[in-house]
Amino acid sequence: MSDRIDHLLNETRRFAPPEALAGASATSAALYERAREDRLGFWAEQARELQWATPFTEVLDWEPPHARWFHDGTLNVAVNCLDRHVEAGHGDRVALRWEGEPGDRRTLTYADMTAEVKRLANVLTSLGVRAGDRVAIYLPMLPEAVAAMLACARIGAVHTAVFGGFSPSNLRGRIDDAGATLVITTDGAWRKGKVFPLKPTVDEALREPGHGVTNVLVVRRGENEIEWTPGRDVWYHDAMAAADAEHEAEAFPAEHPLFILYTSGTTGKPKGILHTSAGYLTQTAFTHRHVFDLKPESDVYWCTADIGWVTGHSYIVYGPMANGTTQVMHEGTFDTPTPERPWQIIERYGVTVFYTAPTAIRTFMKLGRQHTQSSDLSSLRVLGTVGEPINPEAWMWYREVIGGGTTPVMDTWWQTETGAIMISGLASVTTLKPGSAQVPIPGIDIDVVDEQGEPVGDGDGGLLVVTSPWPSMLRTIWGDDDRYRETYWQKFGDRYFAGDGARKDDDGEIWLLGRVDDVMNVSGHRLSTAEIESSLVAHESTAEAAVVGASDETTGQAVVAFVILKQRFADELTVEESEAVLRKHVAAEIGAIARPRQVFIVPDLPKTRSGKIMRRLLRDLAEGRDLGDTTTLADQTVVDAIRSQLR
Ligand code: WTA
Repeated sequence: MSDRIDHLLNETRRFAPPEALAGASATSAALYERAREDRLGFWAEQARELQWATPFTEVLDWEPPHARWFHDGTLNVAVNCLDRHVEAGHGDRVALRWEGEPGDRRTLTYADMTAEVKRLANVLTSLGVRAGDRVAIYLPMLPEAVAAMLACARIGAVHTAVFGGFSPSNLRGRIDDAGATLVITTDGAWRKGKVFPLKPTVDEALREPGHGVTNVLVVRRGENEIEWTPGRDVWYHDAMAAADAEHEAEAFPAEHPLFILYTSGTTGKPKGILHTSAGYLTQTAFTHRHVFDLKPESDVYWCTADIGWVTGHSYIVYGPMANGTTQVMHEGTFDTPTPERPWQIIERYGVTVFYTAPTAIRTFMKLGRQHTQSSDLSSLRVLGTVGEPINPEAWMWYREVIGGGTTPVMDTWWQTETGAIMISGLASVTTLKPGSAQVPIPGIDIDVVDEQGEPVGDGDGGLLVVTSPWPSMLRTIWGDDDRYRETYWQKFGDRYFAGDGARKDDDGEIWLLGRVDDVMNVSGHRLSTAEIESSLVAHESTAEAAVVGASDETTGQAVVAFVILKQRFADELTVEESEAVLRKHVAAEIGAIARPRQVFIVPDLPKTRSGKIMRRLLRDLAEGRDLGDTTTLADQTVVDAIRSQLR
């Protein structure tokens, strides 16, 4: 990996934190120093920011690959996210400013949320849920989804949230694997101007016997017609009205399971990533506060992730609420009723910190900056991104167009498995490089190694590993500890193998290159899909690009690119002209070795509902294979549209 990512490394722009953030920088900078001196002492200090029922005496017990953090302490996660803020006199502070897609609005203070969660805890108990039992949450972006997670945490039940777009069989697979006894769902929710029904999916998932679900708790939102199974189905509002308002929270051990979240692996069976209580809460709260320079008393924070994915867990529910943050929550899609919607929301609530994904940013770019211009975005002071490598062009657009040319853009690298942010700058300290995730956060040890596990030097690339256990790490794969060992620990012993390629630049700062299964090998040269995509997107005609390595008789793999053109160019150039221009452009930017064998001009890209491009599917298309399971695809028609281009 010597000269291939020169395109990224040629990036020489640097952005120091703005003056306005400088006040916080001394404290934040001292965190690096403190963590270097005494890593465990540093994490113990962060953990003591939480409210403990029994203080811990041991920080870490590490028997690779199993870690226990703060294990002899006890606390209640929900109390940390709610009651303690009320007790500290912040009951009137807004917790959620929720906006439904049709424009209806709700404001819930910390006192309101605490009351909701206490009642719901009583409801769950009355439905027979006990500490350690599993509860499936199949809910869209409603305040009740936040309440459901926190009510589980309050009684020590383990939630497993399933993204609202998953099919009945996916939902059933997760219910069975987790052994859930209760499902919390809704009749339906608003999406793209219509009510999207959810309850029928639960009914379908539970149709065949053999599951352990005894009740389905149903939040009324869509008011759509639904089937009702008497004895099993319970209306949320009825149960809440009947429930006691008071609830005494019990403290649970630091390592008590908090949630299971399923994520895809290299096999067809999803992995149930298990997270536990105190370590997870410590690191999500710490990173939320310091990466974004978050001030709970004055900031209005908006994370656009869905609650069903890990970003929703860590950076809508647990981190922000442990910090007592005021946040915006939005139902539905960004382009409904118009693409002005997100920017109007930012103006309406005075959002100061905005956290979204590169794919959303590139979609905003594609739609054009005119949509942003009718709203006042000057309240924004810190921006964040997560989910995939962000190309420098998107990073710059985000900073300039959304951030008014002054906001730091925090590129945060982490995974479902890591539970919280691992690599990122700190908004008040770091001089940022567009496209780099920068450095491990204080208290986190990361390295880049070669296949043999030898650390590569600065200026070189390899595989990303985490070299010391961290508080919010996954504890195992639910029900399959062997798979946990094999997937993450077999390769490099007691170092965690993340499955991502990365490069250290000459300053030792980190540039993520995508999953290692997205790294191509062309004529014995390793090429990163991220690098070629970045080069394509840098061309003025490109709105969005995805690159895959398709098998090739001569070269092993060949580069195949799928490109969405900006409208202006799509009107001006023929498809053949565009293809030729882009192939030449990549060859010129990176080298002939990177020149795509084919460039397909397509109207859209296949994405999962969480917004990740489905490269595997593109590879199958490029190689003319039958497509396997496409149920995680957000829009099934995209595949047909691409196929018609391939002919
Ligand atoms: C990728 C999402 C580059 C990476 C929180 C990782 C990133 C996978 C970044 C985890 C980033 C996430 N830069 N790549 N800032 N953030 N990734 O489990 O490949 O949905 O392994 O967690 O997303 O995805 P997951």
